[in-house]
Amino acid sequence: MKLIPYLSIAFLSIILVNPISGQDTTEPPVELTTEEDHQRTMELLGIDSLRRGVNGSNPDAPNYVNYDESKANPYPHLPDPLLTKNREEVTSAKKWWNERRHEIVELFDREIYGRVPGQTPNVNWEITEVTDTTIGNIRAEKKRLVGHVDNSDYPHVTVNIQANLVVPAQAEGPVPVIMQFGFIQLPPFLKRLQESNNEGDDSSPNWHQLVMEKGWGYSIIEPNSIQADNGAGLTKGIIGLTNKGQPRDLDDWGALRAWAWGGSRLLDYFEQDKQVDATRVGITGHSRYGKAAVVAQAYDRRFAIGFISSSGAGGVKLHCRNFGEIVENVAGSNEYHWMAGNYLKYAGPFTWRDIPVDSHELVALCAPRPIFISSGKEGDLWVDPKGMFMAGVHAGPVYELLGKEGLEIDEFPPVETALIEGDIAFRQHSGGHTSGPNWPAFIKFADRYLE
Ligand code: GCU
Repeated sequence: MKLIPYLSIAFLSIILVNPISGQDTTEPPVELTTEEDHQRTMELLGIDSLRRGVNGSNPDAPNYVNYDESKANPYPHLPDPLLTKNREEVTSAKKWWNERRHEIVELFDREIYGRVPGQTPNVNWEITEVTDTTIGNIRAEKKRLVGHVDNSDYPHVTVNIQANLVVPAQAEGPVPVIMQFGFIQLPPFLKRLQESNNEGDDSSPNWHQLVMEKGWGYSIIEPNSIQADNGAGLTKGIIGLTNKGQPRDLDDWGALRAWAWGGSRLLDYFEQDKQVDATRVGITGHSRYGKAAVVAQAYDRRFAIGFISSSGAGGVKLHCRNFGEIVENVAGSNEYHWMAGNYLKYAGPFTWRDIPVDSHELVALCAPRPIFISSGKEGDLWVDPKGMFMAGVHAGPVYELLGKEGLEIDEFPPVETALIEGDIAFRQHSGGHTSGPNWPAFIKFADRYLE
């Protein structure tokens, strides 16, 4: 039987060399430090050095952050979300959906957040535990969920997405659910934080309780179980798994899109879970997870509503604003992994003016679905509350084209004014870097859509 050795060689080569990428799947992931991968990305772009970011902590530093509004708008002309590449005006919903929206998605894919591969592995959700619990004084059922990502194409990388789902025990049918990018298990010293789940702000109402009182459920998904929050991890996690352990190309996805991808996979699971009404699932997150939440809402049209808390630079803040954190910080080695490699070039040699798209267009990708943009005040200026408000204002024309309403005013409102009458909402609470005090206003806003 001479055929057998040939057959087994052919079989082996199918197993060992992935026919699509041609990469050897027997090699473990490339090991690079964050600094090495950051440098490698600059080399791919042909860049020797980047301009440095601003310093948010030392007022005596020469590169101290700008908090002076009169210097905040060096590039006041934003790209028009309703003008196509060929400079045609978008005056119909049809032209938005068939043409302009695709152009904007392509720009965000290529220049800002990177592309999700055309085919990503299946996720097999396992319910590992079901417990009865009480949230406030409401009886609830809590499920622990693990999403096992199929790694048969590259067994060196394992990804198990950690999540939970809590719904009122008395619910009569499928309930709306608010999904949060956050933490399920915290070290014991952070137990109090877990209980309030308000990023350490104990004076605010517990959002789990507020949601349960509405008869809705909530769900936490852990971004770090999808993709590590650093550059060294880019050859592992879901990005490394789909790249078979190789470092990223310049337009490959960064961690924000990877985290958002994980949220979408959990939403797939909700579509199968009879306790959840998957047409009424909201997405939320704070700070870097606020960035992930707006990316998730923009790219996955199944998310019905978003509560985007203090997302700042790389999130809802306009990239072209000089207030708080700036492009150069996000392009630095601590944060570049959130974005596509191509984003680095806007921190040198190019400038913010060269970025062909801005965050008002990210908000516009969420249209016509409701979005609540929010921040704190003192202690939260780093996220540029006004720059996020402006992104909301300039997304308005797209909402209006689609028969919805943008922000009700275009002047930055006094602190603690809840602008929740339109389909784009905004509120700045008077506290620091936390979502806590904005929850009641968000729930009131969401009530209009989820009830
Ligand atoms: C840093 C970073 C922000 C980020 C924040 C966080 O402050 O500069 O962009 O949002 O960390 O996630 O806590």
